[in-house]
Amino acid sequence: MFGFKHPKTWEVFEIVERPGLIIIKNPFTSIGQRYWTVKCLEEYSKKPNKTNIDTLNLVPENKEWWEMCQNNNNVLLLKKLRWVTLGYHHNWDTKVYNEQDKGKFPKDLTDMTVFVASTLGYTNFNPEAAIINYYHMDSTLSGHTDHSEKDLEAPLFSFSFGQTAIFLLGGKSKDDKPTPVFLRSGDIVVMSKESRLAYHGVPKILQIDSRYWDPIDENDLCYIGKDYRDVVNICKDESLWKPFGNYLSHSRININVRQVLSRGQKRLNSENAEEVT
Ligand code: SIN
Repeated sequence: MFGFKHPKTWEVFEIVERPGLIIIKNPFTSIGQRYWTVKCLEEYSKKPNKTNIDTLNLVPENKEWWEMCQNNNNVLLLKKLRWVTLGYHHNWDTKVYNEQDKGKFPKDLTDMTVFVASTLGYTNFNPEAAIINYYHMDSTLSGHTDHSEKDLEAPLFSFSFGQTAIFLLGGKSKDDKPTPVFLRSGDIVVMSKESRLAYHGVPKILQIDSRYWDPIDENDLCYIGKDYRDVVNICKDESLWKPFGNYLSHSRININVRQVLSRGQKRLNSENAEEVT
């Protein structure tokens, strides 16, 4: 399901000096890694999802970013995409979610994240917002905390594909010395408990030798639902997959999924009233 190997084979670690920081070492099949890469590049980058290039007037209204990059082999445009937001859109200035600034959260990403969450025992996790970060070899992400969500008890799930990152996770203060972890293609990070509000960042992307998304095994199923067969077909056809593989050879994609609302809460309160079931 969802491009995973059987959960019985997953290697799950908690970093001893950082309670609540859980790493699942690449539980994806190659087809699974390819599936989520294609989704991030070709589909989640489409309107009405929000991206950093929306205001740059680089992509005409009737065109899509990935298609434009492919048509002209436009490497400059390819490198311009740095983030996409899904569901409740992250507001980069105020860091406050808004009920009026919300798109549909993709069903496949919901189902995949809920599957990981429930496998780890988080049976009530509700994916409501995601930031997809697109890194190139010279990209970094400075230290920050993710504290905009109402439910800070709910963990944060982060999926990485492509080149390796050095990921630093510290404590609640910037003065805490951070713990470094390599995040390789397919690795999942779960920030829970004491690590949920910890400072973290990505100071360096490293070029890797292995292509974790190759080779594909024809017997690997990637069942995500019949609506997604076209994407699975791209993953299985080497010529269709090629531009996506080329992208991963020089870049890293990170999908960061959060629950925004508290359990039972239906929407963010506008002025005062929160609607609770
Ligand atoms: C983030 O903290 O927003 C992204 C972390 C990562 O790229 O691994």
